[in-house]
Amino acid sequence: MLDMIIRGAALPDGRTNTDIGIQAGRITAVQPNLQAEAGQVIDATGRLVTPPFADAHLHLDSALSLGQPRLNESGTLLEGIALWSELKPHLTVEAIYERAKKLCLWAIARGTLAIRSHVDICDDRLLAVEALTRLRRDLRAYLDIQLVAFPQDGYLRYPNAAINLQRALDMGVDVIGGIPHFERTMQDGAESVRALMRIAAERGARVDMHCDESDDPLSRHIETLAAETVRHGMQGRVAGSHLTSMHSMDNYYASKLISLIAEAGVGVIANPLINITLQGRHDTYPKRRGMTRVKELMAAGVPVAFGHDCVMDPWYSFGTHDMLEVAGMGLHVGQLTAQSEIRASFAAVTETPAKILGLPNYGLAPGCDANLVVLQAENAFEAIRIRAERLYVIRRGQVIAQTAPRESRVRVDGADLAIDFTRANLG
Ligand code: FE2
Repeated sequence: MLDMIIRGAALPDGRTNTDIGIQAGRITAVQPNLQAEAGQVIDATGRLVTPPFADAHLHLDSALSLGQPRLNESGTLLEGIALWSELKPHLTVEAIYERAKKLCLWAIARGTLAIRSHVDICDDRLLAVEALTRLRRDLRAYLDIQLVAFPQDGYLRYPNAAINLQRALDMGVDVIGGIPHFERTMQDGAESVRALMRIAAERGARVDMHCDESDDPLSRHIETLAAETVRHGMQGRVAGSHLTSMHSMDNYYASKLISLIAEAGVGVIANPLINITLQGRHDTYPKRRGMTRVKELMAAGVPVAFGHDCVMDPWYSFGTHDMLEVAGMGLHVGQLTAQSEIRASFAAVTETPAKILGLPNYGLAPGCDANLVVLQAENAFEAIRIRAERLYVIRRGQVIAQTAPRESRVRVDGADLAIDFTRANLG
C-alpha cells in the first residue's frame, strides 16, 4: 500500500503513460502499469508531470515593493536604483518578511519549490537578512530557499560590505554574491571577484555573482570568475548571473571565453524578462537584445538556467512569478526554437537550476524526493506555449497547492464549446 500513485503521466523526457509511486515522501517507482494500491490516486492521463520549477535568481527583499515609496516614472535601471535607495531607510523586518512570504506563496501556487534569492547586505542593519533567514526557516516544509549575500552597492565600493558579508554568512546566508561591474574600476571589479572567491574557498560556500550586467563588451569579469573557479578547484559550485555583456562581445573573444566557462564548470543564469527590458537602452537602432549568449553556452555544455530576477519592484513592475513565462521569454529572446532547445528551455526552469543550486534528491526517479507538479499540458513544449495551469503541486508526497483546469466556453451557432487552446481532436 503506497501513500500516493500518479497514473498515466507524461514526463519531460518524452515518456508517456507512466505511473509514479510515492511512499514516505519519496518516489518509489516510475514505470508503466504500476501494480499497487495507494491512499491517494491522481489521474494524470495525458498530463505532464515534472519535478518542480526552480528559480535560480530572485530578489525576495525587493519583491512586491512596487509603488513604495513611489513608482519608477521613467522605467529605467537608474531610476530603479535611486528608488531602492529611497525605500531602504523605511524598510522594516516585518514589511520585507510579509512581501517575501506573499511572493513565496505565489511561487508555490505556480509549482516553484526552490528559490535562490539574493539579499542586499549594503544596509548595516541587515534587516533583509533577518527577515529572509526567518522566512526560509518558516517555509522549510514547503519551499527550499537559498540565500545569497549580495553586496548590491559594490563589495569594495560600499564601506561596510566586507564586514556585513561576514555577518550575513554568520547569520546563516548560504551563498556568496558580488557585483564586479558595479565597482568603481575594472581593476576593482576583478579584485572584488578574487577577494570573494577567497572567502568562498575558505568557507566552502557556493558563489553566485551578478556579473557583467552591462552592454559594455569590455566588461569581462566572468573571465576572472571562471579562472578563479578553476584555481580554487570550485568547479560545479559557482554561477555567473546575467552576463549580458557577452551579447556585445567580439565573437573571437567570446569563443575563447565560452570554452573557459565550460572548463570551469560555471553555471550561467540569464534573466530574460528583465534583461530584455533594461539592456540596450543606450542604443538607437538596431537595438541589441539584452541577453547573454544562451544558445552558444548551451551548445558548449554549460548549464544555463533562466531566473525571474525581479517581481513588482523598482526595476521590474511586472510578473506573477510564473517560471513558464520566464522560459517562454528566454526561448523567444534567445531564438531557442530547435526541438532540443525547446526542451533545454524547459530544463532551464527545472532541472538545470536544481543542478546549479545543488538541490539534493531532485528529479523523477526512484529515491528522489516526491516533489512534483502536474500540469494541464501534454508535454513541455505545450506547457511553455500555453503557460499551463499547475493542477497539483506536490511536496514530499503531499498536495500543497491546487489550481482548477483552465477552460473557456464559446457559444457559436447554438453550440456551447469548451476551448482549451490545444490541438486535441484535430487531424
Ligand atoms: Fe539580480
